[in-house]
Amino acid sequence: MMLETVMRARRTEKVMCDVSERREVPPEIESRNKVLVLESLEAAGWAPFHYPRRKEILEPWRAHILWSKEVTRVTDFLSTELKLQNKLPRLCAACSALVLATWIPQEPNEGASRNNALDAMNAEHLAAASAMVQNLLLMLTAHEMGNYWSSGGDLGSATAFEFLGIPADERLLGAIFVEYPEMKAAKFDNKDRQPGKLREKRGTGWIKEVVID
Ligand SMILES: Cc1cc2nc3c(=O)[nH]c(=O)nc-3n(C[C@H](O)[C@H](O)[C@H](O)COP(=O)(O)O)c2cc1C
Repeated sequence: MMLETVMRARRTEKVMCDVSERREVPPEIESRNKVLVLESLEAAGWAPFHYPRRKEILEPWRAHILWSKEVTRVTDFLSTELKLQNKLPRLCAACSALVLATWIPQEPNEGASRNNALDAMNAEHLAAASAMVQNLLLMLTAHEMGNYWSSGGDLGSATAFEFLGIPADERLLGAIFVEYPEMKAAKFDNKDRQPGKLREKRGTGWIKEVVID
């Protein structure tokens, strides 16, 4: 697909089902799609970034992937242990894989307080991480995988991070719910689907041509 076609085809698809109706991804479907998700992440990592974040891993973002079995575990955790009554467990229950994209804010040196330079650097870490996430959504779209970038709600909590083994200094930027094309088939289709609320409200009014007299 041409890049513009992929950009326009990317859309939020919130796919949900009852927790009790979760169906795990069959192994042959999972192994085929795992390769594509991993390749998509590697390609997404070609996003620009301004500052090296750590010596060992320069990028200011991280991506924590939950394959089908782990998605089942986290679905149970959210519904049984955290007893959430909102959409989050239902979104997890319906997805094939879940990518938790995080970024790592820079903290002030010991004894120092936050300052403008640090805030500006963190804004750029976050901007770079967002570019990586958009790249990922485009790659998933090109592979005809359904996707939804959600803020992630309780998946970003300290309790969830501890459960998932995500370092406490990372911040959740997005929970990306992925649906493999094969899992959209009628035999798996026990799911509700909702579009993004703002999908059809966008315009071009934000494009401003600068005229200098
Ligand atoms: C950073 C970010 C966080 C988002 N979080 C949520 C969310 O928590 N809940 C939600 O309904 N949509 C969320 N969305 C998706 C938007 O609702 C969606 O992008 C918007 O309605 C436009 O639809 P489209 O993605 O199909 O173009 C988020 C989008 C972004 C970029």
